[in-house]
Amino acid sequence: MLPGSMRAEARKTITDWPGYRPTDLRQLEQLAEELRLGALYYKDESARFDLASFKALGGAYAVQLVLREMIEAKLGRPVTLEDVDRVRHPEVASTITVVTATDGNHGRSVAWGARRFGCNCEIFMHHQVSQGRQDAVEALGARVRRIRGNYDDSVHAAAEEARANGWLVVSDTSWDGYVDIPRDVMAGYTVMSSEAMDQWPMPEPPTHVFIQGGCGGLAAAICVDMWDRYGDRMPRLVIVEPVSAACLHESARLGMQSRVDITTESVMAGLSCGEVSLIAWPIIASGASDFLAITDEPIGPLMRRLAREESIVAGESAVAGLAGLTEARKDDRLWTRLGLSKESRVLVYGTEGATDPEIHRSMVGVMGT
Ligand SMILES: Cc1ncc(COP(=O)(O)O)c(C=O)c1O
Repeated sequence: MLPGSMRAEARKTITDWPGYRPTDLRQLEQLAEELRLGALYYKDESARFDLASFKALGGAYAVQLVLREMIEAKLGRPVTLEDVDRVRHPEVASTITVVTATDGNHGRSVAWGARRFGCNCEIFMHHQVSQGRQDAVEALGARVRRIRGNYDDSVHAAAEEARANGWLVVSDTSWDGYVDIPRDVMAGYTVMSSEAMDQWPMPEPPTHVFIQGGCGGLAAAICVDMWDRYGDRMPRLVIVEPVSAACLHESARLGMQSRVDITTESVMAGLSCGEVSLIAWPIIASGASDFLAITDEPIGPLMRRLAREESIVAGESAVAGLAGLTEARKDDRLWTRLGLSKESRVLVYGTEGATDPEIHRSMVGVMGT
């Protein structure tokens, strides 16, 4: 579903991008002690390129691959990913438009890729996405269109406009008949999980990985990567979503891919997604062990705590996995059911930094500016 060759190509290509460096894996010693865990590590994506989220690895990489394919088709001869990266065919690239829907981070990644590789970019955002997130995308030269409705409506609107205008959809979620590009996006994400596993400092792998879910692409990418590396010793994968957008939880409950209607937007904007990615679901269904849905309540306090005690700039969606863990601690039965104990070695992914600095400031204070 996400073969090793695709993941290896993503790693080779992305680690060649200017400015690449692995993000930090931070030990949260004090919190581990308080939760009575053996160890707790936080993969901090706040310094991922200039985009401050792991999404930089997915959308931009998929733009690079799709441009190679389009340029090859137009020139009638092979073109390398390096040719695309160095913009060696600007006359062709500049005739191509990529489009996606976003609640911020994925669109920013696609816009960043489009600007670097010399093509045009259109971004669809629903009306509740913050102005700060729109500004960040526009600063990369993309055109933003606002739509009524929620994230899922913006996905449909982007696909429709793409059909009407001959644009290329570079989405992080997949649906019937549209799977190849989202798979490339997921291949990009695996760069983050392989970095984390290379950095893991203990002789034994993590016992648990808590990962936040939007459409599920991220969780599925991590799942495949861990499966490959650890096989039977694969850590227990716990998916955490906002209660208002718990489509993976609902799918697990019903035993089939399902959707939920989003009526309230969570503060975890990146996770506010009601439709599961088609290619992510079978991976998650067989690889994830547990599904938690959390309210927004623990998000602000955890962001502040990480800022104060660890000098970590963590965005609203970044702390969701960690919040799943701290909320579970409050319920002994759940803690035991999750197999958590003082022997546990837990890895969480802090998937974004201050991707909207104003929101971050309002929730944390001066940190994250
Ligand atoms: C910061 C952040 N974390 C996690 C996710 C979830 O990723 P996915 O939608 O692939 O499940 C997103 C999605 O936009 C995000 O922006």
